[in-house]
Amino acid sequence: IKMNIIVVKDSLAGGRKASELFYSAYASGARVFGLATGSTPVTTYQYLVKSKIDFSNCISINLDEYVGLKPTNEQSYRYYMEKNLFEFKPFKQSYLPQGDAADPAKEVERYDRVIADNPIDLQLLGIGRNGHIGFNEPGSSFDLTTHKVALTPSTIEANARFFEDEKDVPKYAYSMGIGSIMKSKSIILEAFGEDKANAIYDMVEGDVTEQCPASILQKHPNVTVIVDEAAATRL
Ligand code: GLP
Repeated sequence: IKMNIIVVKDSLAGGRKASELFYSAYASGARVFGLATGSTPVTTYQYLVKSKIDFSNCISINLDEYVGLKPTNEQSYRYYMEKNLFEFKPFKQSYLPQGDAADPAKEVERYDRVIADNPIDLQLLGIGRNGHIGFNEPGSSFDLTTHKVALTPSTIEANARFFEDEKDVPKYAYSMGIGSIMKSKSIILEAFGEDKANAIYDMVEGDVTEQCPASILQKHPNVTVIVDEAAATRL
């Protein structure tokens, strides 16, 4: 299987392309959308907000959430989703892991049930500089479903820019596992900027190895990679 790779000029063009793919998936009957956070999908959400798409009969399921943050915390992924998409394009139901859940084991189970009950038609992904997807860091098993993850120092450092103090950056997250991500019917992975070039190279052309979590996507039958020229420099 070959990944379908689309090289665009910049993140605006990438976001537009991704939003078009959302629209055609919707037109073909997709009703469950897996969503991602981070700076990468922002332009996709901007185009979706401006589009005519109506998600009010759809379900969204996000990849991950920081452990310990309340949904109202401005750094939580729930808050990000509200501000970037849900306030403008509400879904019938939007699921994210609950960062402040009292019982992590139960929360993980609940989220696995959510995913099992709502098979994902289209999953949107970003990629970490070390090749992580969701919060599945290098070394995590390809078989995992939802789990609680200890974030690596490099991910904590990369996320520190969003927090006033590096001390406030959560050290743990809940993440959908690679096993769950691979069950999505189709996947769009976006990457913009030169600091993603190595991860994109390893994902597309490297070995399939748990050292580069995104490399498993080589084995998925329906992946579209949207990269800007900077992120595509090593391809
Ligand atoms: C975090 C998120 C990922 C995201 C990655 C890259 O680790 N859990 O889902 O893909 O950051 O973020 P950015 O898009 O800001 O580069």
